Amino acid sequence: MTEPQKLSSSRSAGLSGDIIPPGDKSISHRSIMLGGLAEGTTTIRGLLEGEDVLHTVTALRSMGADIRKDERGVWHVTGVGPKGLDAPREVLDVGNSGTSARLLIGLCAGNPFTAHFTGDSSLRKRPMARIIEPLAKMGARFESPDGKLPLSITGALNPTPIVYTLPVPSAQVKSAILLAGLGAEGVTTVVEKIPTRDHSENMLRSFGATISIDRREDSEIISITGKPSLKAQNIAVPSDPSSAAFPLVAALLCPDSKITLRNIGINPRRAGLFGVLRLMGAKIVETNPRIEGGEPVADLMASTSELSGIDVPPERAPSMIDEYPILAVAAAFANGTTRMRGLGELRVKESDRLTLMAQGLSRCGIKVEIEGDDLLVHGTSRPPAGGATIETSMDHRIAMSFLVLGLQSQQMVTIDDGSFIATSFPGFAAMMNGLGAHMA
Ligand code: S3P
Repeated sequence: MTEPQKLSSSRSAGLSGDIIPPGDKSISHRSIMLGGLAEGTTTIRGLLEGEDVLHTVTALRSMGADIRKDERGVWHVTGVGPKGLDAPREVLDVGNSGTSARLLIGLCAGNPFTAHFTGDSSLRKRPMARIIEPLAKMGARFESPDGKLPLSITGALNPTPIVYTLPVPSAQVKSAILLAGLGAEGVTTVVEKIPTRDHSENMLRSFGATISIDRREDSEIISITGKPSLKAQNIAVPSDPSSAAFPLVAALLCPDSKITLRNIGINPRRAGLFGVLRLMGAKIVETNPRIEGGEPVADLMASTSELSGIDVPPERAPSMIDEYPILAVAAAFANGTTRMRGLGELRVKESDRLTLMAQGLSRCGIKVEIEGDDLLVHGTSRPPAGGATIETSMDHRIAMSFLVLGLQSQQMVTIDDGSFIATSFPGFAAMMNGLGAHMA
């Protein structure tokens, strides 16, 4: 256990500069996993070297992949190919990372060995029943007294291909089933009522798997044919829109600011926040749109903006599920009320984000309400009081959101522990300070 690292932020003006935020976390995890399975050596440029992804690296190494980083910062993953994964040599401790846990358990479900998973105290509270249920239907056996980590999984020798309708919109659950489906003879199908991020589908296809997607009015039916021969790829990871969101909102809030964020992933299944902020009046200009490594990317210019409160419908949630904490901060500075609807899933993220955001914002003098699964933030377009120490409950995004809030609060804002920021955004405070922010 590392010592908690208190961090504070205080009134800043005139953010300026040009930054490349760190690589996309979802794509980084999947690059390591699919590279680790494929035949040949996958190269990955721009991999997020956050703690979450490094846990995935350790897990794949432990199952037989050869993974190293060269002097230019490019990662080389030599996969196990047709011989398949080895039984992991040790307990797979995936730290704070829900994506590592759920996707790797899916991967193991299609392999006939036993693996033991654990994580930190935040991850050990998060629900795993949502993957246990479909993976058990495919033939995997679990030992997990309470549907949470730690758990043991014994994968199926001949996994049964299933047709499974997701009861919650979750890309992690979808991906776990698709990865288990790689080991099954025949076609495994996932039905999504509400579309979630599609990086697994895109990347599995580019590694050579046969994936078909049937888009219907009320659902999307994703099918994968098992036992493909996956081939190594060269991957360029775009910058994570979920990480870019923090400096971007900071630039909207701080006076006389103008920043450029380069190489940002703008996959429509991920970029919901930018659209919502624009509807609130944010000045965000997209330039140089292009496709890189199969993903749409662009450079974004953000400048100081006057924001107005809006109503964010529940259908928006999957395309910006990780961005509600920072949206709630933007809403605190807007003129009028922002109602964010349908946020039940926020209760089972790295922390109960719904409760923690409401608590922290109200400690900083902002009027907030939770009504059912909706969060209401009553903005006044004046700087909030701040002057509080915020409980972050091992949650990187809560930590970064409140540090952004402190940049325009009347009094300094302190977070109880900034160490978890390294799970997704190593060097966050330094990058922010490089733009002119005051964080220490
Ligand atoms: C992720 C999916 C989302 C998201 C998480 C990353 C992924 O989780 O919150 O940060 O990479 O598939 P859910 O599947 O629980 O919605």
